[in-house]
Amino acid sequence: MSETKLNTPKINVETYNKDADERRSPEDQSKRDFLVKATVATSAVGAAAAAYPFISTLQPASNVKALASVEVDLSDIAEGEGKVILWRGKPVFIRHRTAEEIAQVKQDDTADLKDPQKDEERVKNEKWLIVIAVCTHLGCVPNDGGNFEGWLCPCHGSQFDLSGRVRQGPAATNLEVPPYEFINETTIKIG
Ligand code: FES
Repeated sequence: MSETKLNTPKINVETYNKDADERRSPEDQSKRDFLVKATVATSAVGAAAAAYPFISTLQPASNVKALASVEVDLSDIAEGEGKVILWRGKPVFIRHRTAEEIAQVKQDDTADLKDPQKDEERVKNEKWLIVIAVCTHLGCVPNDGGNFEGWLCPCHGSQFDLSGRVRQGPAATNLEVPPYEFINETTIKIG
């Protein structure tokens, strides 16, 4: 398992979002600044600040970035908790969903979804959600939060549920599900 840990570096979301910001046009950046100010004014963001305390400032080495696949040990993720790992230079959310959370996302299969997809189409094991943690609007990394128990993008306020489906904001599509498989009950291989 020590090799698995080496293969799954944690990321610095602030640095990642700053880099994403620099890739945006000036128009996008000013729009983002306005929306960030508006978002900070709401209490919902307070919870997001506590998200993913395990994210360290460790930056991935270039050889790690290039890894085609990574194995991830799930055994240390308790129900209701998550982890962010890096795969091919992109952050990936791994979330261990509770029975209540699973019931909620299944109920929301019939909600008015922007990018309609059933939860069962997005998972291989309903307890585990694995999605690329890159907002489908302009590429920021969402934080925990929002109105759907999932994620809130700090850049322009898109909100995603615990199936990674977009529920509010400018993003038009759901968070992408990477290719992955379960090697055993507590290990997945992404890529
Ligand atoms: S990057 Fe615009 S809402 Fe996420």
